[in-house]
Amino acid sequence: METSRSTQISAEAPVMEPQRQFYYMDLAKKLVEERERAYGRKLTAHVETFGCQMNARDSEKLRGILDTIGYVQVDTEEADFVIYNTCTVRENANNKVYGRLGTLGSYKKKHPEMMIALCGCMMQEEHVVERLKKDYRFVNLVFGTHNIFKFAELIVCALTQKKMVVDIWDGTTEIVEDLPVERKYSFKSGVNIMFGCNNFCSYCIVPYVRGRERSRDPKDIIREIEQLVADGVVEVMLLGQNVNSYGKNLEQPVTFAELLREIEKIEGLERIRFMTSHPKDLSDELIEVMAQSKKICKHMHLPLQSGSSRILKKMNRHYDKEQYLALVEKLRAAIPDIAITTDIIVGFPGETKEDFLETLDVVQKVRYDSAFTFIYSKRSGTPAAEMEDQVPEAEVKENFDMLLKEVQHIAAEKAKELEGATLPVLVEQVNEHDETLLTGRLSNNSVVHFSCAALDPDKQADTSLIGKIVDVKLVECKGFYYLGELCS
Ligand code: 5AD
Ligand code: SF4
Repeated sequence: METSRSTQISAEAPVMEPQRQFYYMDLAKKLVEERERAYGRKLTAHVETFGCQMNARDSEKLRGILDTIGYVQVDTEEADFVIYNTCTVRENANNKVYGRLGTLGSYKKKHPEMMIALCGCMMQEEHVVERLKKDYRFVNLVFGTHNIFKFAELIVCALTQKKMVVDIWDGTTEIVEDLPVERKYSFKSGVNIMFGCNNFCSYCIVPYVRGRERSRDPKDIIREIEQLVADGVVEVMLLGQNVNSYGKNLEQPVTFAELLREIEKIEGLERIRFMTSHPKDLSDELIEVMAQSKKICKHMHLPLQSGSSRILKKMNRHYDKEQYLALVEKLRAAIPDIAITTDIIVGFPGETKEDFLETLDVVQKVRYDSAFTFIYSKRSGTPAAEMEDQVPEAEVKENFDMLLKEVQHIAAEKAKELEGATLPVLVEQVNEHDETLLTGRLSNNSVVHFSCAALDPDKQADTSLIGKIVDVKLVECKGFYYLGELCS
């Protein structure tokens, strides 16, 4: 894969990061100002995110840079600078990007000065970059997951040269801190605690596109959260592909549970969430910390993937059905009101009806609060893609529909159990469809739409509550969300 570092355009640029990127931000700002003068208006930028929370956080970093160099963020793709932060976990994620690029290409024909950039997981695949170079010549800039911190430098490069700038790294050991970030919400934020993945589940492309596991230094994480709290954040979501193995590769190893204990001490921080947990690494120490904590949310996302021990082995998951069920029991014994959610794949190579029924059995035993269900997608380069016994589509579809029905039925029943309860809600925004309501989330991550009218009949949605935690009575459960009334 290409590892061109052709972006070294000035000898004066500092070698050290992040100083180097601040130097390029200044340069980029000047280039943007030049264009502003030529067009007689501000330049606009649009960041489109595909994929997971990790990508959503990366997009906040992209926005932080674009903002700093003078672009105005807009919601439309008819902008001066458009960047797609891509995902490649399933084939349809890739297809979506190609489809959207076609439309973007026709827009660019009318506005040749427009800049189009692509980054993220999909760009780490060689065949993708080849296809872009061949069929999508109008793209200005392509970079991957390992060098996202170089965005400012790459923008300067793309703004100053005519040909497509491609900069993809095979991997990195570098973690560059302290670059600008433009948060979506003022009161909650994602925080990366580690990058990459070492698990190599046989269906999964992530280890190939996000590289080997690297944990951030706990001191840097704490410092970042303290700064966020000082800036008004009350809830953090700790992000990593497998947070339970956090800290193993640090010079002075730290466990994820120890990190959580330290984060808990941060004054002003009210809620701590994390994802994703791998069942094989979920320690008793973590369960204990969660049970004792006042801040860690009562929610565990614990991907099952399959309920069949035979399939789990082929998936390289390192646990079997019984171990998974025992883990859930242990969690519930220690934290009785914990919400458990999961990811499940249907149609993994070699999956028989019996295997599928094992998955259904786990779903019925665990009774998940919600579950993301996926049809297996063949990702070239992964071991599962080479397996011979791929399952016929019709059979997969039938099983998938059956699973989805069961998952939804159980989730609705579970949600109903909280009807009538009064619980703390972090208020996030005015309801998108009804301006008299506010929308927020419970500790278990469920969405609540509530009115402030019970206290004062004329009361409209009280926007001063956004970012605060208030008590709400859950009057009615509507399947996967609640309608409620403000109590305090
Ligand atoms: N096909 C279908 N689903 C997949 N996932 C990961 N790889 C694949 C694949 N090849 C699902 C897993 C994972 C979630 C993020 O995406 O369930 O937990
Ligand atoms: Fe998609 Fe995985 Fe990359 Fe997230 S880490 S964007 S899920 S491929």
